[in-house]
Amino acid sequence: METKQMKKLAVLVSGVGSLLEAMIRDNLPIDFVLADRSCRGIDIAQTAGIETEILPRTFGKTFDRYGYTLETIKVLKSRHIDLVIMAGYMTFFAPVMFKHFGKRITNIHPSLLPAFKGDHAVRDALEFGVKITGTTIHYATEELDNGPIIAQEAVPILDNDTVETLWERIKVVERRLYTETVRKLLKDV
Ligand code: GAR
Repeated sequence: METKQMKKLAVLVSGVGSLLEAMIRDNLPIDFVLADRSCRGIDIAQTAGIETEILPRTFGKTFDRYGYTLETIKVLKSRHIDLVIMAGYMTFFAPVMFKHFGKRITNIHPSLLPAFKGDHAVRDALEFGVKITGTTIHYATEELDNGPIIAQEAVPILDNDTVETLWERIKVVERRLYTETVRKLLKDV
């Protein structure tokens, strides 16, 4: 009988890493965690015994996006990664990343895309005064916060919400939805 080869999964983080933490808790088979800076997400992965690497980047005009993207691809290829999951990863890659990974790289964004793209989605939704926001999981493409949508879920905005309270309620949904979605994607890659 033919045995199915396990697909290799990498999670990319930049910050708190609570989505990664939820995936680990739910026993997703994560092979590798990569960060663009030193962050809590890396600590969580190390505590769980997952292999990690930090590929530090610069900020501002000195940042070589293309070179950094090539370096990242090299690291992921050297570990034979099949599926790349960006979970609160805050570096935007050059197009070569998406040429390489195609529909094997996903992102999560804390709004109902195409509304409120960019780095301040939760604050922007609150300031605009919408009554419903949420989260979107999508295939990552060379356009920021764009790409075919895989899953979305709405989160109501309450009258007394702050960025912190609203973002945490969005993250509660994201921890469940991203974990479920990655599990399904692993069957397809
Ligand atoms: C999540 O809310 C995710 O949607 C967002 O970062 C948070 C990560 O939370 N992603 C982006 O803003 C990407 N543009 P965590 O660090 O606690 O896992």
